[in-house]
Amino acid sequence: AFITLRQLLDHAAEQGYGVPAFNINNMEQGLAIMQAAYKTDAPVILQASRGARSYAGDIMLRHMVTALVEMYPQVPVCLHQDHGNNEATCLSAIRHGFTSVMMDGSLEADMKTPASYDYNVDITKRVSDAAHWVGASVEGELGVLGSLETGEAGEEDGSGAVGKLSQDQLLTDPDQAVDFVLKTECDALAIACGTSHGAYKFSRKPTGDILSMATIEAIHKKLPNTHLVMHGSSSVPQHLQDIINAYGGEMPQTYGVPVEEIEKGIKIGVRKVNIDTDCRMAMTGQFRKIAQEKPSEFDPRKFMIPAMDALEELCRDRFERFATAGHA
Ligand code: G3H
Ligand code: 13P
Ligand code: ZN
Repeated sequence: AFITLRQLLDHAAEQGYGVPAFNINNMEQGLAIMQAAYKTDAPVILQASRGARSYAGDIMLRHMVTALVEMYPQVPVCLHQDHGNNEATCLSAIRHGFTSVMMDGSLEADMKTPASYDYNVDITKRVSDAAHWVGASVEGELGVLGSLETGEAGEEDGSGAVGKLSQDQLLTDPDQAVDFVLKTECDALAIACGTSHGAYKFSRKPTGDILSMATIEAIHKKLPNTHLVMHGSSSVPQHLQDIINAYGGEMPQTYGVPVEEIEKGIKIGVRKVNIDTDCRMAMTGQFRKIAQEKPSEFDPRKFMIPAMDALEELCRDRFERFATAGHA
């Protein structure tokens, strides 16, 4: 059944687990994620970016996720707008059956320019009012996602460069977070703690100076009843880098957020864990492998089946490690 983010994360907080939010663009991703949720008896957040909505189309996405819910009646599903950039994006998502929206007012609507605090409060509050009138949930974001090593933003929704960021933009301020949640009435809050989008997050296995669990802890202390969201939570596993590179890929060595750090985060208030890059890598590794091992193959299903299996395995692992398993 469809549920809202608020319903799901309230339960997760009560029971002390985290919920992965996997990005979805097509049927194969949907089938693999749902199969993993079903097998581990886990609820799930399926999130669609603006890019996903224009790739698949709103009508296709709505019917696809409705079909998945019908195929897996045991699995609670939250359909969430990832990185909404303005009111129109968020409200049209709700109209298309999304039960939750992210209003990312940390950047202006172009998703390139860091926004002022007042802009962020105002737009998030407006979306919050409208969404709550019709029973949908809202995630806000305070702080700008980016690397503490380089000051670069990574790929905040893939739409372009944000430019150099200062350390205080890159770590959410706990006192400001309290004010933000009070003023906007958002259900969940995305925070900046050193993670960034995409595969190239860290140049080495991250330590406390570049991945600030202390920031999460400080925010959770001041806002114990707010559900915290960790964006850029792909772990960029070495074995997935190796598969891609073994079959003709060229990914320079890189480091993501170790799963054990996310597990620590869940213990200190992280409830929603956003993962896209790992899912992409799991599938693409298999596309490359089949293409190289079976050059005569041209049936797309022969590429999709191992790719779905690899994605399912990744999702199952995250459901188990985040303790989502068993909570459907
Ligand atoms: O936040 C970024 C997500 O990975 C979505 O990426 O905008 O390319 O669909 P996308
Ligand atoms: P990754 O690029 O680390 O998978 O992050 C995805 C994300 O935060 C989507 O909002
Ligand atoms: Zn994100």
